[in-house]
Formats: sequence, C-alpha cells, structure tokens
Amino acid sequence: MAPLANAGDLTLSTESSSPYDLAILGGLDGVPAGETRYVSWDEVAGLPTTTLELTGEFVPGKQEVTVVFVEDLWKVLPVAAEADTLLAWCTDDYFSIYPPEFIAKQKPFVVVKINGDGPDKWPPEGLSFNPGPYVISVADEVVPGTRAILDVGHKRPWGVDKIKFVNEDEALAPAFAGEWSDVSELAAAGRTIWVNSCSSCHPGPGGLVGGNKSQRPFPVLQAHAKYNTDYFRKYVRDPKSLVPSATMEPHPHYTDAQLDALVAFISAESGE
Ligand code: HEC
Repeated sequence: MAPLANAGDLTLSTESSSPYDLAILGGLDGVPAGETRYVSWDEVAGLPTTTLELTGEFVPGKQEVTVVFVEDLWKVLPVAAEADTLLAWCTDDYFSIYPPEFIAKQKPFVVVKINGDGPDKWPPEGLSFNPGPYVISVADEVVPGTRAILDVGHKRPWGVDKIKFVNEDEALAPAFAGEWSDVSELAAAGRTIWVNSCSSCHPGPGGLVGGNKSQRPFPVLQAHAKYNTDYFRKYVRDPKSLVPSATMEPHPHYTDAQLDALVAFISAESGE
C-alpha cells in the first residue's frame, strides 16, 4: 500500500468532464458554500486501495472488489474541521447518511473496481445494469456483523455520483427543531429509524435532508401517520398489499414497536 497522500492532494475541478467524476458538494475548506467540485475516477482509484474478496456483493458468488475506505478519502480531501458525517446521493435521487460512529465502526468503503474493471466496463457479468459511477458499501468481510444492522442496504447505495461532508448536528437540526424540539422518547427512537432508513427516499420535516426518490412531500406521510395510522403501518410493512403498483421497498421485518416509533416521530408526538 502506498503512503496516504496529504490532505488536499486530490485535484478538485470546478467542472465535470466525465460521467465517472465524483461530485463533492461543499464541506471543503477553500470551496465556497453552495459550490460543487469534481474529482475524477482516475484520482479516486489512484488513492491507496484495498482489494476485498466479497461474496454476493454485485452478483452471486465471490468477486474481487477494489475499494477506497471512506476514512482514507476523508484524509486526502480538505474536509472542513467541523464536518463529521458523509452524505451520499445517487443518480436516481436515493440518499444515504454515514454518521461519525458508523464510519468509525463499520468502515464503509467506495468501490472503484469489480474484478479489476472500473465503471466504464461495468456491469460485471450477471448484472443487468451499471451500478456506477460509484458504490458505497460495508461488508462482514471487513467488520463482522455489519450486515446484520437494521436496513443495512441503506448503507450500500449504488449509482452514487455526489457526496457531501457535513456536521451531523447541523445536518439533522430540522429533526430537532419546532414541533420536533421536545418529542417523546418513542418519537426520538422513530427519528433514528427515519434518518437511517426512510430518509433514503423521503425528505423529512422542515426540509430535513433526504433523498426524493419517493416524490412524496413530508406532509403527505405525516397525514397518513396522524390520521390514517393503520394504512401507514400497513404501507410501510408491505406497500403492495395496499397499492399493487407501489415501488417502495417493503419493511416486513419492522416490529410493532418500530412502527409505533415511526408514527410518533412523523406526527411529532410531544414529550409532555
Ligand atoms: C427505496 C425508497 C424508499 C424508502 C427507503 C422508503 N420509501 Fe416510502 N415511498 C417510496 C416511494 C417511491 C413512494 C411512492 C409510492 C410507491 O411507489 O410506493 C413511497 C410512499 C410512501 C408512503 C405513502 C405515501 C402516499 O402517497 O400514499 C408512505 C406512508 C411511506 N412511503 C413511508 C415510508 C417510511 C415511514 C419509510 C421508512 C421506514 C419509507 N417510506 C421508506 C420510496 C421509499
């Protein structure tokens, strides 16, 4: 393994020149808020990489996957000192959040090659569409037990093309403001599930950061949770049982207590 390059060693361009560039939205020293910078795939893949033999990552069976750990990417970018959390967006508006404890413990990584090939040669045989330009993932082969985390799929997004380094408290502030500033213990538990799972496809209260693959504004979900609770619970567990054409992923593994927590959070159940 080559020694790590120093912070700021990656070339940050103001314009994208390839579909395999990684967009970085702010959170970087020297980059004005609201501006985007681009890093090329060659630069990312040129960082110190680790080759993992993973089972079932993209296709059944074993495949060799070349990765850059998020922690190492962090070190070579001029990430602002207050940033402790990574946000990632995908080409289909799917979203993932990597809080500091998750990064430290589960060691997420960015996939740059599958069986020695970069994204211009994906998909690998056996997969019908290109999971690139980037995939972020976690693996039991790296940290045993990681794949058992609730809804771990949300930490394994395909099609990642944008990332942002943020401060967790700042990013999640809308979930702790206004009606959500003094919620019940149950609602607080629901907030954790929301941020980890629902935010992948749903924007949250007060513009809380999230994906928008669902194309459903938060008030629609809130109306269901508050006034149509049985429908809400059934929808979250098994959308197709209510709407045959539903595309939302089912959550059959959610316990009644987890659904109670989500209802409490979404309807801003007060702590009094
Ligand atoms: C992978 C993306 C995805 C995730 C994750 C997701 N949803 Fe959805 N959700 C959707 C989409 C897409 C729709 C729009 C209807 C459809 O196609 O199912 C939707 C619709 C809904 C609806 C119905 C709204 C309506 O218009 O009737 C509810 C309620 C809902 N989601 C709640 C949740 C909750 C709670 C979570 C977290 C446990 C969650 N969703 C996680 C994609 C997602």
